[in-house]
Amino acid sequence: MAKVIKSKRNLPNLPYFYSLIEWTLPNLNRRKSASRKAQTIHDLARSAKKRVPRVVYDYVEGSAFDEIGSARSSAALRRVQFNARTLRDVSNLDSSEMILGQKVDLPIIFSPTGYTRLMHHVGEPAVASVASKNNLIYSLSTMGTTSPEELTAAVPLGRKWFQLYVMQNRADSVAVINQARRAGFEALILTVDTPVSGLRLRDFRNGLTIPPRIRPGTVLAIARKPVWWINLFTTKKLEFAAFRGWDKSLVELAATIFSPAISFDDVKWLQETWKGPVIVKGVQSVEDAITLAKMGVEGIVLSNHGGRQLDRGPVPVELLPDVVKAVGKKLDVYIDGSIMSGQDVYAAIALGAKAVFIGRAYLYGLMADGERGVEKVVELLRRDFLNTMALTGNRTLAEVRETGAIFRNE
Ligand code: GLV
Repeated sequence: MAKVIKSKRNLPNLPYFYSLIEWTLPNLNRRKSASRKAQTIHDLARSAKKRVPRVVYDYVEGSAFDEIGSARSSAALRRVQFNARTLRDVSNLDSSEMILGQKVDLPIIFSPTGYTRLMHHVGEPAVASVASKNNLIYSLSTMGTTSPEELTAAVPLGRKWFQLYVMQNRADSVAVINQARRAGFEALILTVDTPVSGLRLRDFRNGLTIPPRIRPGTVLAIARKPVWWINLFTTKKLEFAAFRGWDKSLVELAATIFSPAISFDDVKWLQETWKGPVIVKGVQSVEDAITLAKMGVEGIVLSNHGGRQLDRGPVPVELLPDVVKAVGKKLDVYIDGSIMSGQDVYAAIALGAKAVFIGRAYLYGLMADGERGVEKVVELLRRDFLNTMALTGNRTLAEVRETGAIFRNE
């Protein structure tokens, strides 16, 4: 019988054992330690769910009708298989990209999101501050709970874009555009997939209003998430800051903001009125991309609005290769939709995107742990994106696009 190998035993090596001990006290702030421990954005989403009332969490996570669109975006991103090269020195990686002539450190842009102070009272300025510290672009929504002026006062450095809906009354649009101009915003994002609002059934069921209405059930909701409610009642009034003084109800406001009559003429009007860069968000076909390229817009975002508008529409990442082929040399092609990891960012870049927009991803971080949670989202995206660049043998985004990716048929 073969001889069994045995380890030779010594007396325990106490100095060695001692050297392995980490002398740090456990973090007793549960919120802080949950975001510190998070290894994925889904981990942050789980913490977020524990921190905010259900109506808020559902507003972020939910989408339209059967919520098929957002699920399809996630599934499509997971079908992307990266081509990989080996034996290429990857000791120096450069994840930067030039956007509108200036460098950003990662191909990631913060999407405009409505009601952001509802997710956490620190709201838009906290997100813009993380963007600025990481040399990324922040986009403020027309439905933001911080005005363009307040945002610039809170975060004077850093690049900011302003998202706009062409409104029923052009004078109203001009008033909002002028706020963005005065506050030093660099580009306008025109959202075009909202001729009418998507039907978000979770919000209907939860009776979402701004500010949240106090009903009998609210007492229970307060008992469940007291910190969130205390923050709501002890900080600035929650309102659509760009429309301060308009004195309109939420329903009236939405009816004014979304114009069912929006057309390509409005894009032209906006180009002439704004005179600066225009990015059109919510493009869902190669044909529209070609028309917009001919009109000379600076960029388009292939988007299904996170599945929050048309539920069974085209999936942005699936549309991406054809759109890049058709117009990629004429304008910047961005995408959004269910980007929840650095691998998802990589998939979009490898299929030709200039950069991706993230929305829910940073809102999960914000709900979980305020500004620290948003910082954690960037940290995770950066870590995973750089790791994937190294493992696929790509040192620059140009190399990522050249090496490319394919869709697996699953
Ligand atoms: C606003 O654009 C939203 O999707 O809620």
